[in-house]
Amino acid sequence: MSDWIPQLTEDGSFTFFSETFNEAFHSHLGAKQEAFIKFAQATDLATKAEQPSIRLLDVCYGLGYNTAAALEVIWTVNPNCQVTLYALELDITVPQAAISPSLIDTWSAPVQEILTAIAQQHHCTTVTLNATLLIGDARQTIQQLCQIPFQADAIFFDPFSPRRCPQLWTVEFFTLVAQCLAPTGKLATYSRSASVRSAMLEAGLQVGTIPLGVVHQPNDWSHGTVGSFHPPLHSLSQLEQEHLQTRAAIPYRDRNLSDSAATILQRQTQEQQQSQLESTSSWRRRWSIP
Ligand SMILES: C[S@@+](CC[C@H](N)C(=O)[O-])C[C@H]1O[C@@H](n2cnc3c(N)ncnc32)[C@H](O)[C@@H]1O
Repeated sequence: MSDWIPQLTEDGSFTFFSETFNEAFHSHLGAKQEAFIKFAQATDLATKAEQPSIRLLDVCYGLGYNTAAALEVIWTVNPNCQVTLYALELDITVPQAAISPSLIDTWSAPVQEILTAIAQQHHCTTVTLNATLLIGDARQTIQQLCQIPFQADAIFFDPFSPRRCPQLWTVEFFTLVAQCLAPTGKLATYSRSASVRSAMLEAGLQVGTIPLGVVHQPNDWSHGTVGSFHPPLHSLSQLEQEHLQTRAAIPYRDRNLSDSAATILQRQTQEQQQSQLESTSSWRRRWSIP
């Protein structure tokens, strides 16, 4: 088994820290809160759950918090809603470590059973759920879903941050993920980065912001991004639209879906150096962003 050590976040829920990516799995403001606000709420799950069935795609399943929050929301609204879920994750030791009693008891009993089955068997079938966890590099496993073809009403897009894990924020990966989004579906991510938004735009999605609620840092301007083929979305603010006109908006590229993080970062840096777009530091000065 792994040696994942739980770390407390400010809402009382726990997260893990990855030494490999040098980053926590969740915001220090609250792991569980992030799952509800930035993923379940941002993809309108409470409304979608009024339908008889719903399809979910959890990209970077990790501790399973986004899946768990989604199931809690859906079955609170409609206990009979039939859920089909696919989840993608590289490292099986993460979901396995997350089902220890002290971590999992934050969820309702039925959701605890589901997270346990997913971590142990990679599948869970109940009267109202059909869930499958695909272990491997999401750049490869997503291709299985495109072939089915699977189209989700909600996609939770939750890799480590773009600088730490650029391989999952490229135009090419978003293009495959967008193929797995239903025409009326929504993809939500915590990232508000301009390069991420332009990668989503190039993949054919429209983008909107996740407006700030009560819980945020003083310098925040958004909780993240929602992508969809159709409005309505919360429009980007003037600040965010101008961010998309700067060099920061040059997206990551990974034509064969196989490059290393270092290669992808280096390619973007080269493109930025040759760009005629406004520098991001001048945009920051204009908007007094430290
Ligand atoms: C920020 S954490 C996700 C947190 C998760 N959504 C949760 O609620 O606990 C990122 C996850 O991405 C996984 N990961 C990293 N690289 C990956 C890859 N290439 N393909 C699939 N998963 C990957 C990590 O193992 C980690 O579990």
